[in-house]
Amino acid sequence: MTATFVPSFPNGFLWGGATAANQIEGAYDADGKGLSVQDVTPRGVAGPRTDGPTADNLKLGGIDFYHRYAEDIALFARMGFKVFRFSIAWSRIFPNGDEAEPNESGLAFYDRVLDELERHGIEPLVTISHYETPLRLAEKYNGWADRELIGFYEHYARTLFQRYGNRVRYWLTFNEINSLPHFPFVSGGIATPRQELSDQDLHQAMHHELVASAAATRAARRTNPDVRVGCMLLATPFYPLTPDPRDVWAAKRAERENYAFGDVHCRGRYPGYFLRGLREKGVELDVTEEDAALLEEYTVDFVSFSYYMSMCETATQPRESGSGNLLGGVVNPTLQASEWGWQIDPVGLRIVMNDYWDRWGKPLFVVENGLGARDVLVEGPHGPTVEDDYRISYLNDHLVQVGEAIADGVEVLGYTSWGCIDLVSASTAQMSKRYGFIYVDLNDDGTGTLARYPKKSFDWYREVITTNGASLRT
Ligand code: BG6
Repeated sequence: MTATFVPSFPNGFLWGGATAANQIEGAYDADGKGLSVQDVTPRGVAGPRTDGPTADNLKLGGIDFYHRYAEDIALFARMGFKVFRFSIAWSRIFPNGDEAEPNESGLAFYDRVLDELERHGIEPLVTISHYETPLRLAEKYNGWADRELIGFYEHYARTLFQRYGNRVRYWLTFNEINSLPHFPFVSGGIATPRQELSDQDLHQAMHHELVASAAATRAARRTNPDVRVGCMLLATPFYPLTPDPRDVWAAKRAERENYAFGDVHCRGRYPGYFLRGLREKGVELDVTEEDAALLEEYTVDFVSFSYYMSMCETATQPRESGSGNLLGGVVNPTLQASEWGWQIDPVGLRIVMNDYWDRWGKPLFVVENGLGARDVLVEGPHGPTVEDDYRISYLNDHLVQVGEAIADGVEVLGYTSWGCIDLVSASTAQMSKRYGFIYVDLNDDGTGTLARYPKKSFDWYREVITTNGASLRT
């Protein structure tokens, strides 16, 4: 008989929640902020671009964290958060991206956020670039396709380390860096439409981001040797649709497209399978001696990732494509999916954590995971609330698998649930795709009071944190 599994999380495990500036802050032009690529993609990552901000662009509204951060952080503290992940909007600090001097008002805003976190004893986890390249860098340089971006990013990152390096221990360089080939505009500020973008330019942009990440890691260590810099990957395990070896290989290939980024971040050089792919595509990467030395020397301290789903791959069967978190794949007939078609697979999280740990041997940080669902506000004993048992069940089952991975020997620094407060969806720009423990009264059409209401999952998560995971149901 197998004993019941009881998850055990290490002391000091960092429980918390995650957000991104462009999805929560609003105030798109306040206090000298410039435009970012998000401000011209009002319909989400995959939607059409506009020429500028539009009145009905929800991303411009966010959930008004810019003015309500104190109230929101107080709610996180009530849940017992140990850590809060947020991103700094690059265009608040350097409105065009290529200035020499930063915008003091932008820097001061994040001072205030950090003050508030400190007051509540919540550790910050900062993403330096979360799909927020300043628009000017896209228009003038074609974003990361241009080598000059490395210098602008390094200057921006150094400015952050100098200002906040004593207050922020954990930093992430690029959100979901491996999404670049799929959404080059939002992920890499590349203005050339995807279908017209050459393999050469795309891979060169990838290289520039990887070098910039290493350059930022160097700047961080020089500013304050105590900070820890991590990469951030979009994790999607790919399973073979059948046991046919050709399907197994198809799944491996799909997975390696993602691994390549982590391999460079963690091992400091491009893997052989990736170089073969470049040769076959006729791509000749421009890698300077200095680039190679930087990549080699400044590998990351830890690996962070988002996990929402797994996918299948096949080389032998008809493809039934599934919708997914930016990366596509083939539907797995054994899994249920969310209302947005994202397949729900808690065990996939354990698989990915074991794979990453076995491959790179670096501590992991689960910095995004959660269920986007349509919530219904109801009257509860203490005011309006949401009976979100479906979210509790999703999070419970995924956290149990984090516990399994820890029991397997994987070193895990923490877990930040995505969209801990309802925010604007990255892929669809909908407000109705909600992830939070806290309901925000804002509708897809921009109407609403912006009032915040704790959901049932709010109390559930507080209990999980208070008991350090002992309250999870296995
Ligand atoms: C990740 C992004 O891809 O998934 C987030 O880092 C995003 O920015 C999250 O919000 C969930 O995706 P969506 O499309 O449901 O908002």
